[in-house]
Amino acid sequence: MNIKLTKTEDVQPEMSCIYIIRKETKLPAYLFSDVEHDYVQKKIIEGENQISVNSYLKQSFIQVLNEEKNFYDLKEELRNGAAELLKQIKVSKIEKILIIDELHDADLTLSFIEGLVLASYRFKKYFTEKKAPEFNLDTILVLSSNITNAELEELSFLCEAVYHARDLVNEPVVFLNAVKLAEIINAKLTPLNCSVEILNKNRIESLKMGGLLAVNKGSVDPPSFSIIEWKPGNSVNNKPIILVGKGVMFDTGGLSLKPTPDSMDYMKSDMSGAAAVFGTIYAIAKNKIPVHLIGLIPATDNRPGGNAITPGDVITMYNGTTVEVTNTDAEGRLLLADALVYAKQFDPQLVIDLATLTGSAKAAIGTAGMVAFSNTDDDTYRKFDESAWNVFERLVRFPLWADYKEAIKSDIADLKNIGGKTSGAITAAKFLEHFVDYPWIHLDIAGPAYLHSDDSYRGKGGSGTGIRLLYDFLKNSV
Ligand code: BES
Ligand code: ZN
Ligand code: ZN
Repeated sequence: MNIKLTKTEDVQPEMSCIYIIRKETKLPAYLFSDVEHDYVQKKIIEGENQISVNSYLKQSFIQVLNEEKNFYDLKEELRNGAAELLKQIKVSKIEKILIIDELHDADLTLSFIEGLVLASYRFKKYFTEKKAPEFNLDTILVLSSNITNAELEELSFLCEAVYHARDLVNEPVVFLNAVKLAEIINAKLTPLNCSVEILNKNRIESLKMGGLLAVNKGSVDPPSFSIIEWKPGNSVNNKPIILVGKGVMFDTGGLSLKPTPDSMDYMKSDMSGAAAVFGTIYAIAKNKIPVHLIGLIPATDNRPGGNAITPGDVITMYNGTTVEVTNTDAEGRLLLADALVYAKQFDPQLVIDLATLTGSAKAAIGTAGMVAFSNTDDDTYRKFDESAWNVFERLVRFPLWADYKEAIKSDIADLKNIGGKTSGAITAAKFLEHFVDYPWIHLDIAGPAYLHSDDSYRGKGGSGTGIRLLYDFLKNSV
């Protein structure tokens, strides 16, 4: 991430700036002429919440807070407002901007800055031609009596984690296969004092992780299974919290091949769960949050090559459960189930998995939120949902009713890997539930993980969804 975020004490009059104000805030007379002041007042009375004043040498933007909303909506309005303002900042070729915090509420102003930083993300690695010099915001100075440098640094590390995760999602499989993913995880997290263990294909075979190996059978690239641990000396939880991420580096569907348009064409994003787990641990470790955390990332691509599993094959999972694979495109649950079983040995306080698991979740709620399932106590889920609102990575909770288990019964094995025509996100979750015996939250992120059109500060392409939610939840749990 190449945006610098620092506090400043002095206002240079020629510097472009953003004022974040309440309706009644008086603009400082030493920076605005009477005419400009009257103009801004008129716009505020007319109900505008973004006003721009061009003073030739510099540009001033005024973001007016709409106070009729609840706190979570206010924060989101500011993130969105920042993403909107960024468009004008780019048109005006501004590289350095000063934010003047007139709200005197750190949480609100930090949300605005978060929106500005996250909206600035671009994945440029594969452009060869440097066209006309592109103006990018590279310095954000903050004048605020409430916000500390430590808070800015924390936000900066969190945004950096989201940037890294977006990069991974945006990388095509030709660069990022399962082995490369494990190498990157190791290279980025070991220096942050995480311990990283990578299981290679031999180890995965000797452990008999039948789900991960079955999905890998059609591929020329071997699978990987990354185990990451962040355990600072001052960690407050006795039992670890475990994060599990689906790492399907590319999902062709296997022999149950996907059609290309609007389906297989963007399946490089099928490792977004893995990217979210990586990003969360990155942010937690960078910010030295005292929580004992373990990340598990089973990874492979899903291809129809050579000896690929066929519809009708029966496989034996890591815990011995047999599964009839009636559709090779329902592959995520196979490798996730092995990782969920692997998690048991740590006697976890809570396991959270993230997966681009079903088109059904996306069809149900689109990109606006994640579909959540939980077997935890109400208090844990309530706290989790509160974090979801706080960072505006919203959850829609779906049920784990026993009725749905019927759909994944097989005539010839313990389970089959797909359900019936309806409720695909739920039958997928019921499949996973078979492999857990601890408090567990499952997030189906198929909708928001990858965005096909520009969506405010979430951008276009890989969104890094889940990181801000998990970070907020974990931070508040210590
Ligand atoms: N990776 C897909 C799910 C997906 C779909 C993610 C759209 C993001 C956007 C998953 O592996 C899959 O193919 N699921 C199938 C399951 C079906 C065969 C039971 C699906 O949802 O169609
Ligand atoms: Zn699939
Ligand atoms: Zn998939």
